[in-house]
Amino acid sequence: MANRKYIVGNWKMNGLREQLSDVADIASIAENHKDVDVAICPPVTLIALATETVPGFAIGAQDCHFASNGAHTGCLSAAMIREAGATMTILGHSERRADQHEIDADVKAKAEAVHAAGLGAIICVGETEEERDAGQAIDVVCGQLEGSFPDDADAGWLTIAYEPVWAIGTGRVPEASDVEEMHAAIRSKLSALMGDGADAVRILYGGSMNGGNASELLAVPNVDGGLVGGASLTGEKFGPIIEAAAAA
Ligand code: 13P
Repeated sequence: MANRKYIVGNWKMNGLREQLSDVADIASIAENHKDVDVAICPPVTLIALATETVPGFAIGAQDCHFASNGAHTGCLSAAMIREAGATMTILGHSERRADQHEIDADVKAKAEAVHAAGLGAIICVGETEEERDAGQAIDVVCGQLEGSFPDDADAGWLTIAYEPVWAIGTGRVPEASDVEEMHAAIRSKLSALMGDGADAVRILYGGSMNGGNASELLAVPNVDGGLVGGASLTGEKFGPIIEAAAAA
């Protein structure tokens, strides 16, 4: 049986209070498509405000620290983002792997901390253009998945997002056949890592997904949803992706 589609907006470092109206617009579109799971991950400053604006709508964070507390200036623990109102968080996004030098072991530790705090996690993996050109994409992505994989993985709280780095924010999208090949490789790696529960773990595609290409991407086998950046910032842009998921 196909997994329920999951469409998640990653707002990255975008959004001030005035954008709470966009969260409200998106939540009301989601309300009309209850067969799709929809969430927005705004900057952490908007998490509590967003949960007050749209009670019951899923709000997530974009990162959290693996420690429960302590001397980590500027960082936030899983309990802190949960208290703010997040029900899950993105982890290991390629922008954090590049900008903050996060490695697989950090992502694994973060995922385990997030689960211990009762939150969901979306672990991101993806190859660079050089790695794809060198024919290493599947090995790189499966290696990241194995290194980042939490010990207590379960589809109830864990989601994987495949985001080719070269497709993020560029308007470039892989061929459907390449997405299919990668998602199949991730599925079989999940089976090797966790056995029977692997089929229920949702695997999202991310990288320049928009209202024009969502239907094609969401129809690819093993694509259980999307992790969307730029096209998640308004209801006008994000709505068609939610609708495409509902029709998929
Ligand atoms: P874009 O949709 O802007 O390409 O970003 C994708 C992404 O990085 C989501 O996490």
